[in-house]
Amino acid sequence: MLDLRLAACARFIRPGHKVCDIGTDHAYLPCFLVKNQITRQVIAADVNEKPLSCARAHIREQGFSEQIRTLLSDGLSGIRAEEADDIVIAGMGGELIARIILSCPWAKDPQKHFILQPMTQADFLRHTLARHGFSILKEEPVAENGHFYSVFLCQWTGEAQELDELSALVGKVPQSSSPHRDAYLSFQADRMERIADGLSRSQKQNELAEHYRTLAADIRKLLPKPGKDDIL
Ligand SMILES: C[S@@+](CC[C@H](N)C(=O)[O-])C[C@H]1O[C@@H](n2cnc3c(N)ncnc32)[C@H](O)[C@@H]1O
Repeated sequence: MLDLRLAACARFIRPGHKVCDIGTDHAYLPCFLVKNQITRQVIAADVNEKPLSCARAHIREQGFSEQIRTLLSDGLSGIRAEEADDIVIAGMGGELIARIILSCPWAKDPQKHFILQPMTQADFLRHTLARHGFSILKEEPVAENGHFYSVFLCQWTGEAQELDELSALVGKVPQSSSPHRDAYLSFQADRMERIADGLSRSQKQNELAEHYRTLAADIRKLLPKPGKDDIL
């Protein structure tokens, strides 16, 4: 069984396509994809030898050594374009994910799908992807163990754009039908309010505090209006 984050990543994989899992750790996602016959060709890559040996042991135990190749690689540096259609980069910071994509010479190909799950700096990642011509097609927010994540399905379109702050904070989450949509949006609004409260305490930053309060209010506008029954 995958956790909710990785299960959301698995749902974005195109059946029958070649998959590459960057930062695979225990290779849970590659094993799930093969076991459920979503794909028969996966590269499980990691920059560190220790997680990679855990991955090898898990793959062997599951009997998938023929379908899953392990690879020691910093990001996508050890992988050729023809070896991967759907690239998963999950469980890392948004800045590292952005660096991995932007340093890959073949990432700017509309045939490739990137499935990205940043643990932090999701807004930075959305900004950076948009600036470099990558579009987020869909997002699936996930709430798990008190944490909130969003999984992006993204592709190079060549249409570079500058996102406004609100779009970078919520991405395509408002359009999602995930049961975790509202929890993700509320979490982001609460986060903006906490920043505003912190700034208000240092008197001089009142204007900036107001800016964050407005952002929080704009995010809350994306939430369903409370019905009569919720108020009573
Ligand atoms: C927290 S684990 C995430 C495991 C799994 N992808 C998940 O989401 O549950 C992060 C993994 O990324 C690997 N990693 C960190 N930087 C990397 C890089 N530049 N290239 C490939 N793997 C990297 C780490 O060694 C570690 O195994």
